[in-house]
Amino acid sequence: METKKTIFSGIQPTAVFTLGNFLGAIKNWGALQDSFDCVYSIVDMHAITVRQDAAKLREQTLKSYALTMACGIDPEKSALFIQSHNPHHAEMNWILSCNTQFGELSRMTQFKDKSEKHPDDINAGLFTYPVLMAGDILLYQADLVPIGIDQKQHLELARNVAERFNFRYGDFFTVPEPYIGETGAKIMSLQDPTKKMSKSDDNPNASVYILDDRNSIINKFKRAVTDSETEVRFDAEKKPGISNLMTIFSACTGKSFDEIEKTFSGHGYGDFKSAVGETVADCLKPIQDKYNSFIKDRDYLKNCYTEGLKKAMKISGKTLSKAYRKVGFVDKP
Ligand code: TYM
Repeated sequence: METKKTIFSGIQPTAVFTLGNFLGAIKNWGALQDSFDCVYSIVDMHAITVRQDAAKLREQTLKSYALTMACGIDPEKSALFIQSHNPHHAEMNWILSCNTQFGELSRMTQFKDKSEKHPDDINAGLFTYPVLMAGDILLYQADLVPIGIDQKQHLELARNVAERFNFRYGDFFTVPEPYIGETGAKIMSLQDPTKKMSKSDDNPNASVYILDDRNSIINKFKRAVTDSETEVRFDAEKKPGISNLMTIFSACTGKSFDEIEKTFSGHGYGDFKSAVGETVADCLKPIQDKYNSFIKDRDYLKNCYTEGLKKAMKISGKTLSKAYRKVGFVDKP
């Protein structure tokens, strides 16, 4: 029997997921579940690299778990767990930290961006964040990692760390490949289409959140920043706003850019923006309905994350104890 390849991915529970998180990553997580062994995590340990209110983080982590299920991750098919519940992540983090160079971490653009955003709290965790992320992936010997483009540099670092470890200690880690979807891998802000759409944007009109109500979604698209032309045409350089809306429309409907251009030829931006808003609202409605029923049933959620943890730890435990042997630690009594 052919063994299935393994997938790992994670998402931070810092806020309700955005349309970018959904189209760039989670939509693909769901689609991969039948053909691969999938392990997915709500990465709360990553979230505390930026100051969080403890009560809010706890609640947001449970909400994120329910939202991930509502987005189509089936806890029966995949191992869906909360990162801080599995101590192997912190343990692997140490081994990999000793196999990661200061210089390579210094080149991470997300570290530079986040340091600029939080100049009063440039903590060591923010700097070593990509090592924790490498451990998340390598613990499950993942072949593929579905992510948006913004995580590509971190994935590249995980590959380098895996290769370095394999070189030093003998072939051990699977070197993971990124899995980046064709459309939607970088959804841009609706207010500044040169910036990616982000959970932490201060401008509420910049990001569409998966749980936004229909009217807010439609209004956010109506207010989306575009250019002074009127033609719905894809040109990421010259027309980043309209191109972003076309990408969103294409990712939600499966229509090509050519088809979209033909459909909206001669219509102007107003009609197109309304159509994108309506389409996104329709696409998110079933997710919102499922979320509302999952979040009410805390016992069911607990049962799911407990089972998910068991499945995850079975795999990560094996990898960790082999890694401990490789580096020369005495077997645990
Ligand atoms: P996070 O929580 O910022 O985002 C989760 C996923 O959503 C993707 N994404 C986007 N895709 C398209 N357009 C956007 N505007 C957009 N914004 C976010 C991200 O690329 C990501 O795939 N470090 C990770 C979490 C993580 C992880 C891991 C991911 C921790 N360990 C191991 C993969 C494997 C992060 O902060 O993602």
